[in-house]
Amino acid sequence: MSERVTQADLALLAFAREAKQKAYAPYSGFRVGAAVFAGGDIYVGVNVENAAYGSTICAERGAAMAAVAAGHTFFDAIAIVGDSESPTVPCGACRQFLAEFNPEMRVVIGGRSDTVEVMTLDALLPEAFVRGYLDEDDGGEE
Ligand code: THU
Repeated sequence: MSERVTQADLALLAFAREAKQKAYAPYSGFRVGAAVFAGGDIYVGVNVENAAYGSTICAERGAAMAAVAAGHTFFDAIAIVGDSESPTVPCGACRQFLAEFNPEMRVVIGGRSDTVEVMTLDALLPEAFVRGYLDEDDGGEE
């Protein structure tokens, strides 16, 4: 499941760690930063909480939104750093959201300790529902 950690992974993780400082997490106190690598550039995001708790947006989706807004729909990798001691894994909703932009992207995760792990998104979300399934719809009435 785990991939070998490269220098590029660590460089991307540094952006996520830096971004984490800007997280807006007054309710949970759990800050998360994320950095997407797409088209040779890096796009960061942070978790942004809301008084209506369910309106909270995760850091991973924030970074993905920034990359798409810049014109990218294929991501090579995403790095995530959260406030947990061990590396912070992306939540289920973010796994699905990210699968849209490359089910095989590298996922680099870190936390408060020095431990870094790398895996592919499809290891975290096997058999993701992707647009190919929609293409199999023949448009017929049920
Ligand atoms: N959070 C993320 O930003 N990404 C994840 O993958 C896990 C959870 C945020 C959402 C919320 O602001 C806080 O962490 C606690 O759940």
